[in-house]
Amino acid sequence: MHPDCEQVLFYEEEIRRRVRELGEQISLDFKGKKLVVIGILKGSLIFLADLIRFITLPVFIDFISVSSYGKSTRSSGTVRILKDLDLNIRGCHVLLVEDIVDTGLTLNYLKDYMERRRPASFKICALLDKPGRRKVNVAVDYYGFSIPDQFVVGYGLDYNEYYRNLSFLMVLRPEVYEGGR
Ligand code: PRP
Repeated sequence: MHPDCEQVLFYEEEIRRRVRELGEQISLDFKGKKLVVIGILKGSLIFLADLIRFITLPVFIDFISVSSYGKSTRSSGTVRILKDLDLNIRGCHVLLVEDIVDTGLTLNYLKDYMERRRPASFKICALLDKPGRRKVNVAVDYYGFSIPDQFVVGYGLDYNEYYRNLSFLMVLRPEVYEGGR
């Protein structure tokens, strides 16, 4: 157990099982199609790396990075692209991979951004859903887990860039962020 852990939400094995299921489902749904998997940096990094190894189709990989405003100013819904796609996704079957859907503003913006590039199809896969925080409705095609409104880190998710490399998902002890590390 990590010293900053309030509660473990999902252990490594549970995550692996669920990610495997998602990968298998995606493999069925995209069978025979040219699939481009796009990760939103940085939180999706570990999820994406595991997910694509459970996808039994050829996949092309790309990443996009968006500006990270403070959560309060993020509520404007304005997202700025920091690193754009390298691939031309026109005519491709695109799967956008996200670690967590919180307010939904990031995905709402990126969905529109991607669709303007005219892919053949567009779907979203998110590991975690925090429905209690939603500000805009965004249709997510594949979800890993639904979680309560708690501060979750690990498996790619950070607090001030810490904890991304934990292999499990845990709720952070409030003392850590109240202390302002
Ligand atoms: C987090 C997360 C999502 C976004 C979700 O990213 O990875 O991209 O916030 O929030 P929303 O649904 O309210 O838009 P963050 O800006 O913390 O960057 P990171 O992925 O680099 O940690």
